[in-house]
Amino acid sequence: MTISPDVAAESTRTPRTQRLRHYAMTPPTYFTVEYAINPWMDTSTPVDARLALAQWENLRDTYVRLGHTVDLVAPVAGLPDMVYAANAGLIINGTAVVAQFKHAERYGESVAYAAWMAERGHDPVATRHVNEGQGDLLVVGSMILAGTGFRTHPHAHAEIADLTGMPVISLELVDPRFYHLDTALSVLDDSTIAYYPPAFTDHARAQLRRLFPDAIEVASTDAYVLGLNAVSDGKHVVHPAQATGFAEQLYHAGFHPIGVDLSELLKGGGSVKCCTLEVFS
Ligand code: ARG
Repeated sequence: MTISPDVAAESTRTPRTQRLRHYAMTPPTYFTVEYAINPWMDTSTPVDARLALAQWENLRDTYVRLGHTVDLVAPVAGLPDMVYAANAGLIINGTAVVAQFKHAERYGESVAYAAWMAERGHDPVATRHVNEGQGDLLVVGSMILAGTGFRTHPHAHAEIADLTGMPVISLELVDPRFYHLDTALSVLDDSTIAYYPPAFTDHARAQLRRLFPDAIEVASTDAYVLGLNAVSDGKHVVHPAQATGFAEQLYHAGFHPIGVDLSELLKGGGSVKCCTLEVFS
């Protein structure tokens, strides 16, 4: 998008700093919408497989252009949602937690991602309760914000705290359109987030206000195109292009918004962040 630089406003923008990241992604080779496990999915809507791949390649190329490392995890036939790599688990502090999916259609993904983690030299651990990886487990600085209500079980939050040694803040989601935390909240840097308040319980909202008084609150129009399903390196924020209001807010907060079109992947209920697993060292 083009944002006209306002010289006066420019001087008040907070300077932001990029930190280079390590991501893992799985190409949408076998992506289709053949079952419906969230309200975005409609099995009667055709998916353009070539367009999905081109859009995904553009996302990967965007990260590479920004200087980030992108590892590829091989796709597996019959696992159409494997493109949503964020759900694979959470690798942090030398611990690799592998996802424990809620829906049977996705169980095979845990096997594939556990094998990939093992290849990288990790000893992947599973939780006893449902955890959908970085769909619901978002690292902000030294803490983890953890979603629940639709997918990840609150008992898994306690397991994750034990496994990682990090404080975990549970946040309950209430709107099925925002079934994973990463559909309703994005982490912009180690102390800054953006979120859509109506997706959360009153209690969760109060927690977020207390922890992040300067958070960016996005409008429904941006939330409903999954605008918050974004990936930030601390400066550049790669986000679904349709979220133009969010892009303006990011710009005014000093970030550099980069819109990408992932319309085909949106048919499965995911966008930028869903397709991106950040690997923390
Ligand atoms: N179809 C997938 C599901 O419903 C989409 C997952 C999106 N991933 C995410 N990190 N929000 O499970």
